[in-house]
Amino acid sequence: MSSQTRRDFLKHTTAAAATLTAGCTTLPPAARLAKRGPLIVSTWGFGKPANELALNVLQGGGSALDAVEQGVRLVESSGNSSVGLSGLPNAAGVVQLDACIMNGPGHQAGSVAGVEGVLHPISAARLVMEKTPHVMLVGPGAHWFAKQNGLEVRDGQADVASYRAWLAKQKKPAPGKGDKPENHDTIALLILDADGNIAGGCSTSGWSGKVPGRVGDSPIIGGGVYVDNEVGAAGATGLGENVMRYCASYQVVENMRHGMSPTEACAEAIRRIARTDPQGMDLAINFIAINKRGEFGAAGTQANFPYSVTTPDFSEVRKGKSLSEAKQKEGGNE
Ligand code: GLY
Repeated sequence: MSSQTRRDFLKHTTAAAATLTAGCTTLPPAARLAKRGPLIVSTWGFGKPANELALNVLQGGGSALDAVEQGVRLVESSGNSSVGLSGLPNAAGVVQLDACIMNGPGHQAGSVAGVEGVLHPISAARLVMEKTPHVMLVGPGAHWFAKQNGLEVRDGQADVASYRAWLAKQKKPAPGKGDKPENHDTIALLILDADGNIAGGCSTSGWSGKVPGRVGDSPIIGGGVYVDNEVGAAGATGLGENVMRYCASYQVVENMRHGMSPTEACAEAIRRIARTDPQGMDLAINFIAINKRGEFGAAGTQANFPYSVTTPDFSEVRKGKSLSEAKQKEGGNE
């Protein structure tokens, strides 16, 4: 099927799907949502400037997808220590990046994994979604594709200086085994626009000192990010191995479909994983979520997991519900 035919197909099937109700959730019409204005939620405190840029993009007439891309790009080029080319190198001293993007209308997705030398993997992910019939490109193919499509790339970008600096800080570097899993952060950014459409994306350099070729949860649809335009969206940060084995962002969205608030949906996904996983609550995972009604929330195994929330009325860093200490002040708006 050509990409055009495929897009037409998606358009028609989406229009048909939009006439159905979403499980047991009763959703307000888009006209009511428009009064609430856009909502932007992202992981960590460093997501706040990304949210604010995304809001500017929306207010300037850009789409939710444009806003996700621009917000994540800001973090990718901000010198962040675990997002973009300034991020954490693998055991061979090379930064390998993961990213994905999803658009609610049409249920479209694109991702890149283990890509080297691409300044903006989120843009590469969007191009995969929009210019190919595929969903995911990896490694050298993803680099080639980004270059062919005019994205800024650096060839042969092993950053020996950064790697040595990182290595010097390690107590016992164990090549191929990685170091502490909690030492990396991911930008995941979710948007509900004024028309009631949802988009999301994420980007990371992943686990520092990882085995070359290791791919985390961030480029996995339903792992690092999941968007369902009838229900809501979720994004993850933390140890990808503990997210991707459980399709955890998908779980969060399904929890919302069945009536849970965003905060409770995140918390229940973590509890469910902890019930199954030999590590129990020692998972190093955190989630953010938004729903179609403009509610938001977050939960994590990290105490006081910070996440950023922006609307036309306010922009602030909040604390997610902590699954490790029951008495932490909860985030969210419910
Ligand atoms: N959550 C990012 C990663 O584990 O790669």
